[in-house]
Amino acid sequence: MPALDELETPAILVDIDVVEGNVARMAEACRRDGVRLRPHAKTHKSLAIGRLQMAAGAAGLTVAKVGEAEVFAAGGVEDLFVAYPVVGADKGRRLLALAEGIRLAVGADSVEGAATLAGVFRAAGRTLDVLLEIDVGLGRTGVAPAQALDAARAIGSLPGLRLRGIFTHAGHVYVTADGGARTAIGRSEGEVMAAVAEGLRAGGVEVEEVSVGSTPTVPRSRAVAGITEVRPGCYVFHDATQVNLGSCTLDECALTVLATVVSVPARGRAVIDAGSKTLSKDPLAPAGGGFGRIVGRASRLETLTEEHGVIRVAEGEAFRVGERVRVLPNHCCAVVNLHDELVGVRAGRVEERLRVDARGRVQ
Ligand SMILES: Cc1ncc(COP(=O)(O)O)c(C=O)c1O
Repeated sequence: MPALDELETPAILVDIDVVEGNVARMAEACRRDGVRLRPHAKTHKSLAIGRLQMAAGAAGLTVAKVGEAEVFAAGGVEDLFVAYPVVGADKGRRLLALAEGIRLAVGADSVEGAATLAGVFRAAGRTLDVLLEIDVGLGRTGVAPAQALDAARAIGSLPGLRLRGIFTHAGHVYVTADGGARTAIGRSEGEVMAAVAEGLRAGGVEVEEVSVGSTPTVPRSRAVAGITEVRPGCYVFHDATQVNLGSCTLDECALTVLATVVSVPARGRAVIDAGSKTLSKDPLAPAGGGFGRIVGRASRLETLTEEHGVIRVAEGEAFRVGERVRVLPNHCCAVVNLHDELVGVRAGRVEERLRVDARGRVQ
């Protein structure tokens, strides 16, 4: 393995000790609160890291795409949830093949969508587990809590499907600047879902799984009675947004981008070899500017073009051409999705190369 300062840049560094700490702490907290942990693997898309999460006690993994599920199933993960309203008989046929070998469930939020999968499973004499998605405030997919009973009855009665339960993702926490309001979103994510589950049971619908989660809300929502499963993703690496939201400390951030200063063309400006094709243009949430923090410096990445990252040099700081810097990105999942490989580092030494196995599996 090359030494850290021999790595070509830009390179995506992952501190293995920090990843192991994040994985262990989340697993322990979920055990303590009596909920199953099903980490969202869209953050790392890596078999090696997925296996680490499973070894720490995760019940299974969450993915967003059927293609991601295929990669993780082929890699030995035996319990997967596609937390997405999967629609189409083409996808249904791939799910049918997948369900041969693993315990599988997918999301649904409409009878029309679920029926496209039900038809494939019914024709094969098989049953697919689905979780009805509930919208607890994000305003993306999912039915409103008041519509849950009608939707659950309709979807659950489709031959070829079994309603395993309900799920949600309180992603509106990311655009909420007030810390107290974020705490309330976490609590209500759990409380609304527990109440929906009770309402369904009172209406005669069996609810085995009540699944919630995002990295910022999970400490609150998992503590609510009635929640059975949580699905945080970002916690495995964390990023500048999670620091900003108070989900973690800087020491709990595992992923940084190693970059080289390629130009210092004017006073107050330095340019690195990591632009939007390395860092993504995801903004810092819930507020604040720039495209990443320069580790150990006050200077910020002010603008990005495809291959250039322009640093606004803070008062009293200086950069020189050839110098290497590390950038804590705004959004770790978006960065990983742009790269084939992560460089695993332990105690400042390169230890392994981690493939981003499910990268590009968007179908
Ligand atoms: C459906 C769903 N579940 C879980 C997660 C994980 O949340 P986070 O990225 O905050 O860890 C996401 C994130 O986008 C999601 O969309």
